[in-house]
Amino acid sequence: PAKAVAAMFDDEPKSLEALNAIIRKAEPLVPGATQAVLGEGPVGATLAFVGEQPGDQEDLKGRPFVGPAGMLFTRAAEEAGIDRGEAYVTNAVKHFKFTLRGKRRIHEKPTAGEVSHYRWWLDKELELVGPKLVVALGATAVLALTGKQIPITRARGPFRFDRQGNRFHGYITVHPSYLLRLPDEAKAEAYAAFVGDLRRIAELGA
Ligand code: URA
Repeated sequence: PAKAVAAMFDDEPKSLEALNAIIRKAEPLVPGATQAVLGEGPVGATLAFVGEQPGDQEDLKGRPFVGPAGMLFTRAAEEAGIDRGEAYVTNAVKHFKFTLRGKRRIHEKPTAGEVSHYRWWLDKELELVGPKLVVALGATAVLALTGKQIPITRARGPFRFDRQGNRFHGYITVHPSYLLRLPDEAKAEAYAAFVGDLRRIAELGA
């Protein structure tokens, strides 16, 4: 896995660039992805957002959160006064996983084993970026950051991530794709609550 790849270099990567070179070269755990989708944003960003795994559009474009859920995230962040370009945006899992339905590639949720396989990269990434606040978008990010399955409804809000010497002030909120799946009559309220979380996140990061 990722650790074995790192061992081929004499040491652990000392820069985000070096880490990204490793991630780019690694084979997907489940075959099919076009490319690894790396995190995006400046080293030293105050806020880091962690999603689940790249979707169809992300896989094709090689950038995180650029498909429908990504556009919703970017819009909500803007409404909350967060400039996405100044934040660090990444995923717990770096390769798209899907099943084919006709020609459509339907996103498949990563298993706990897959999340744990990619966790070393995420830990290293966050250590190298050094954000003030790490935001988990949805349950997969929470699993990646804590090693535990914690329901979002219970943990939503400020949360301390403390793993393997990586200590971060954190914040747990829903995944934007959850908002897309809600029935129409529930969407507006859930979206407003998401923007409310992002406003609080902006304040905590200030
Ligand atoms: N969903 C995610 O969790 N990450 C992406 O990059 C896109 C959709």
